Amino acid sequence: MDSLKNPFSPGAGSPPPELVGREAVLEQARILLGRIKLKRSEKSMLLTGLRGVGKTVLLIEIEHMAKAEGYKTIFIEAHENKQLGSLIAPYLRNLLFELDRFAGAGDKVKRGLAVLRSFIGALKVTVNDVTLGLDINPEKGSADSGDLEIDLPNLFIAIGEAAEDRGCAVAILIDEIQYFSHREIGALIMAMHKMQQRKLPLILVGAGLPILPGLAGESKSYAERLFSFPNIDALSETDTAKALNEPAKAGGVVFEVSALKEIYRLTKGYPYFLQEWGYQTWNLALTNPITLQTVHDATTTAIQRLDLNFFRVRFDRLTPSEKKFLRAVAELGPGPHRTGDIANMLNVKISRIGPLRAKMIKKGMIYSPSYGDMAFTVPLFNEFIMRAMPNFKS
Ligand SMILES: Nc1ncnc2c1ncn2[C@@H]1O[C@H](COP(=O)(O)OP(=O)(O)O)[C@@H](O)[C@H]1O
Ligand SMILES: [Mg+2]
Repeated sequence: MDSLKNPFSPGAGSPPPELVGREAVLEQARILLGRIKLKRSEKSMLLTGLRGVGKTVLLIEIEHMAKAEGYKTIFIEAHENKQLGSLIAPYLRNLLFELDRFAGAGDKVKRGLAVLRSFIGALKVTVNDVTLGLDINPEKGSADSGDLEIDLPNLFIAIGEAAEDRGCAVAILIDEIQYFSHREIGALIMAMHKMQQRKLPLILVGAGLPILPGLAGESKSYAERLFSFPNIDALSETDTAKALNEPAKAGGVVFEVSALKEIYRLTKGYPYFLQEWGYQTWNLALTNPITLQTVHDATTTAIQRLDLNFFRVRFDRLTPSEKKFLRAVAELGPGPHRTGDIANMLNVKISRIGPLRAKMIKKGMIYSPSYGDMAFTVPLFNEFIMRAMPNFKS
């Protein structure tokens, strides 16, 4: 087939040619956006799931929906080494500037800017470019205590009121939310609690690995009340077939049923993988319909490309001892696994693997799906590690 016309799009955050199997989540987002505009309360959303299941593309889609509903939106991506306050401040500044250009008299937007100015002043890290662009006096005593769990809610209140004043609503979208510290997530939760109490038109839609197991006490019980946690998972066999067939059909091409079955068997319905198989199969196909044999022929390349682009990028950044640790986990199978079992596999005491485990969580290689358990953040990662490190001795 003509590679130029290849409809498939393997890649982090690459919108798929056909976004299948996500109707329920998108409907939930539609209801959330609609109800908040009507000043009815509704839970914000945190999409959780492994890497490559399609969280980022959903977040992008929800941002489109929000814009179409007249929301002002902010889209940020958390990083391992970036603090929430300094990450979000420049976006909030732009948002307030935008609100400032709206028709209307109120001084709530000016207040929002003054509160933001004092929030930035209290951040431990300096945000030079923001400070420079904010030619306004800080509102002393608002959002400048230096305690994020107090300051962020106050800042959100000022922003929510500014938006309300201008008759509009705000959607904050945050990707890779698991990279924030517990304190930062706690602050976000408290801020959203204030939005709900005061019925302010500001919603949060996050995506990332599950954060609930890591939260404790108040944060956790608030989180459960304020957010829904749709689990974004692999696609069913029917949806996998649809994700492959529909885009092909648009180009006048079809897959044989046996070819679709084989792709499902190999990818287990994981969206990133099925895009990769669709892409390679399309390029190799000499016939229409695309046959099972073509899928077989494309598999070596598909796996090579996944190893290179999806698996290895993360793996290569690790030290030998970190690799050895993950190799031991892979030996145990797909998981989740108890920490004790991993320690046994490595022939060391549980207490000795604590620091490594914490580092691997921080680097986003593993996560804790429930207390005391750990699992890879990437589907089929155990198989990749076995390919990359066939020999293992503890
Ligand atoms: N519902 C879907 N149907 C088909 N392909 C999808 C779907 N969702 C995501 N994809 C594809 O999967 C890949 C990974 O998506 P991405 O949003 O980056 O995942 P995540 O953010 O969960 O790691 C992309 O190539 C995207 O085109
Ligand atoms: Mg993503």
